[in-house]
Amino acid sequence: MGRTGRLSRVNNIADLRMLARRRLPRPIFDYIDGGADDEVSLARNSSAFADYEIVPDVLTDVSRIETGATLFGEAVDWPLMLAPTGLTRMFHDGAELAVARAAARHGLLYSLSTLGTTRLEDLAAAFGGPKVFQIYIFKDRGLTAEFVARCKAAGFHGLALTVDTPVAGNRERDRVNGLSLPPRLTLKSFLSFAAHPGWSLPALRGSKFDFANVSHKVDALAGGPMSLFDYIGGQFDRSLTWKDVEWLAAEWGGPLAIKGLMTPEDARRAIASGASGVMVSNHGGRQLDGAPAPVDQVAAVRDALGDGPDVICDGGIRRGSDVVKALALGATACSVGRPYLYGLAAGGEAGVDRALTLLREEFERTLALAGVNDIARLERRHVRPLLSRP
Ligand code: FNR
Repeated sequence: MGRTGRLSRVNNIADLRMLARRRLPRPIFDYIDGGADDEVSLARNSSAFADYEIVPDVLTDVSRIETGATLFGEAVDWPLMLAPTGLTRMFHDGAELAVARAAARHGLLYSLSTLGTTRLEDLAAAFGGPKVFQIYIFKDRGLTAEFVARCKAAGFHGLALTVDTPVAGNRERDRVNGLSLPPRLTLKSFLSFAAHPGWSLPALRGSKFDFANVSHKVDALAGGPMSLFDYIGGQFDRSLTWKDVEWLAAEWGGPLAIKGLMTPEDARRAIASGASGVMVSNHGGRQLDGAPAPVDQVAAVRDALGDGPDVICDGGIRRGSDVVKALALGATACSVGRPYLYGLAAGGEAGVDRALTLLREEFERTLALAGVNDIARLERRHVRPLLSRP
């Protein structure tokens, strides 16, 4: 069966994950799929959604359902955002542009990672929809300021500052698989790649592993001993504080979300430091294992911030009904990483399209079954934590 045929038989994100697993060399699949340490947070991010029940209304006329929302000041067709993911070309040659094209078709906001494999100017030229650049405050503040200027010139609508990576998370699957970035060509990795011919040829040419947005820095260092990966690794700054957020907010002057915080206190600090929103996130369970599931923190963060700021629930979403639960708890929107990456790996742009279609259909069906015809009418009473039974 061809790839399109296989995609049309996919019923949910879990099916797409299985397709991606078949298509990718194991070390590459595990790089997407895995989390830190014992992967407790990775599992909890999703299973926590099952700990909320949806309490429906009936007879509310759900012949038409309003799903439009505003995110980073931009209109979106429904409140889902594509989270930033690095090294996207490693999963499919279509890379970021394939993902962004699918996002545009679905009227969604796309976010490009600093560690992406497409230049932000090329992404902006190809993608007319709402777009956010995921930024880090690097040791070289000049490089961060340069990103801000490039994002302004290219017409990005917002920035998401990732703050949960003072050091790299401990991803043990990558160690067991001997994954290095870029992958080293050993006999073992060659055999693993060669068994996946659709994936491996560009990989063997090395073209999947370019941090396109920072490669000029390494050109500038050409002749020195540093590789691009070493250069980036050396740029993460453990000394960052909220003062640095104030600096970035002033430098940018537009919508800014802090990505990777967990508590109402930090959410308040984010807004006081000049951010316009927060992404409640533990980096998809890839950084601090044992961190709470984002969905469990959403209500407290919303209560702390009041109605104005964007509160984005990031991580663990595998069903459209998960988005409904997060919204009822107070989120403005949700964001997804792995669901669209599984789709990309399984079938390129058509695979991303399938992932987004499935989530959208599930989202609308859940709203109809919950008797909610406008997401603005979703309230906390529509969800409740599972009752513990005697
Ligand atoms: C990520 N994530 C991420 N976050 C970020 O701020 N910058 C980045 O470069 C990356 N790269 C990245 C690569 C891969 C392969 C994954 C799976 C994730 C985290 C991402 O933005 C998001 O927080 C999580 O993916 C959300 O969890 P789910 O949706 O994957 O469960």
